[in-house]
Amino acid sequence: MKFIKFKNEKDASLFVANELIASIKTNPSIKLGLATGSTPIPLYQDIANDYAKNKTDWSHVSIFNLDEYIGLSENHEQSYKVFMYNHLFSKLNVNLKNTHFPEHGINYDELIKKNGGIDIQILGIGTNGHIGFNEPGSTLDSLTRVVDLTPETIQVNANKFFNGDITNVPKTALSMGIASILKAKKIYLLAFGKSKQYAISELKKAKAFNINFPASALALHPDVTIIYDEEAESDL
Ligand code: PGA
Repeated sequence: MKFIKFKNEKDASLFVANELIASIKTNPSIKLGLATGSTPIPLYQDIANDYAKNKTDWSHVSIFNLDEYIGLSENHEQSYKVFMYNHLFSKLNVNLKNTHFPEHGINYDELIKKNGGIDIQILGIGTNGHIGFNEPGSTLDSLTRVVDLTPETIQVNANKFFNGDITNVPKTALSMGIASILKAKKIYLLAFGKSKQYAISELKKAKAFNINFPASALALHPDVTIIYDEEAESDL
């Protein structure tokens, strides 16, 4: 794992946006794995700004999102489909037919494989080390499946996206598994702010997979870059 520390979230997000834009220019039909949550919002804003200015062509890019809540209607404002549409897809000339989310009745891992695999995967990280919704206890061989959210994740997401009301947060989701994520050719994990200090310090120590800290699986991948800011650095 390579670690790159930035002064702040803004500089870090612009760096990743430029990496993605350069990759699309090299490979216009690139397959991207994208994430939701608060972390990638500035990244998506930078990509939208680039499109407004430079018209980078997204029409042949395929996007596979990491996860989706179970139980929210497709047009619920907190569904990840709506999140991605509002923050990114509506701002680009992306072909919505090329955008994918895990769904019941779809073999998502097979779909990704049929499309040639994910070239670049963007990840956030939970305060408990989850990637996607692979909570502690997820196994290294896990593929896309139904997962239970931990009380910690439900509370964090309630605070960020559901006005603090845990009763409105779905308790299950469909998530790419740890094995699904590790199949991506290149991975960027973004972590910003003090709440991610524990996650960054554990990632720095990770040498092998630890089932209690799912992101440790990234230590087994040959091309992972951890992008973090000064606030996420800790003395732990
Ligand atoms: P966040 O979530 O970007 O809202 O911090 C990250 C995650 O839970 O993976």
